[in-house]
Amino acid sequence: MKIGIIGAGSIGLLAGAYLGEHHEVHMFVKHDEQRKKLEAEGIICEQFTEPVPVYAHLVTQMSEGYDLWVVTIKQHAMDGFLEQDLPGDAPYLFLQNGMGHLEKLSQSGLKSCVGVIEHGALAKGPNEVDHRGMGNIQIAVYNRMDPTHGQALSNELHTANFPVFFKEQYEPMLKSKLIINTVINPLTALFSQQNRSILTNPSINELARLLCEEACSVLGLSFSEEWNRVKEIAETTGKNYSSMLKDITENRLTEVDSISGYILDYGKKPLPYHHFVVHAIHALEYERGVRKR
Ligand code: PAF
Repeated sequence: MKIGIIGAGSIGLLAGAYLGEHHEVHMFVKHDEQRKKLEAEGIICEQFTEPVPVYAHLVTQMSEGYDLWVVTIKQHAMDGFLEQDLPGDAPYLFLQNGMGHLEKLSQSGLKSCVGVIEHGALAKGPNEVDHRGMGNIQIAVYNRMDPTHGQALSNELHTANFPVFFKEQYEPMLKSKLIINTVINPLTALFSQQNRSILTNPSINELARLLCEEACSVLGLSFSEEWNRVKEIAETTGKNYSSMLKDITENRLTEVDSISGYILDYGKKPLPYHHFVVHAIHALEYERGVRKR
């Protein structure tokens, strides 16, 4: 397959490295320095430089002839991306944390799958990613694709060292990942810890349990099942720094609004621990000059 990967952060680089072993991968990158470094390693890049609006420029680079688009940009960049007149022939696989993008995605009318990624991945530079925890990708059809097509796509992407599994339903898959992110991400970001701190630090563990309880009550999921999943991912990605911690340390806006904020909006009831972490992460963003108020 000819695959275009939009976004070359830790997840984009990881997907590019593994999928590139079996497919023709083109990385769509924003910065010239990253393009040069990736190209020096023989990776095909399409660059969309940054005259405003960024995504309008990107779309002009997204030519026909692709079999799949894998979109790994962050949640807060999704609105701008989906507002563009995107090519509609090939299916899209959206790999975002959180569920904030779903409504816009159905309005976009694109043929699409959504997926969750449970690997620990840490970008070490523009052309290097450290695979810090083996996990998998799960995908489910979302818009204008039938399950047979989704299953075939998943089979084609799947390899032993980069497993991709097909799920019949997108909602339980995304909700379960949402719980993992609403527990692990804010706590590791607030306390500047690796993911394993959820298991090893008794106070962080207690806060994690409380966040997990709140999230399960709102999303209607079984606490014991989801808590076990959270602990499993904290273990397998134990040496990783969560994406939220990386966003904070690299002075970027985090995805807390699409993760913990999404749960607050969804629940429409007081969730004190979620409330606290959203404000605490906002405070860090504010101090780093990436949030205005
Ligand atoms: O956002 C992240 O960091 C990841 O989704 C995960 C699975 C928590 C691993 O760090």
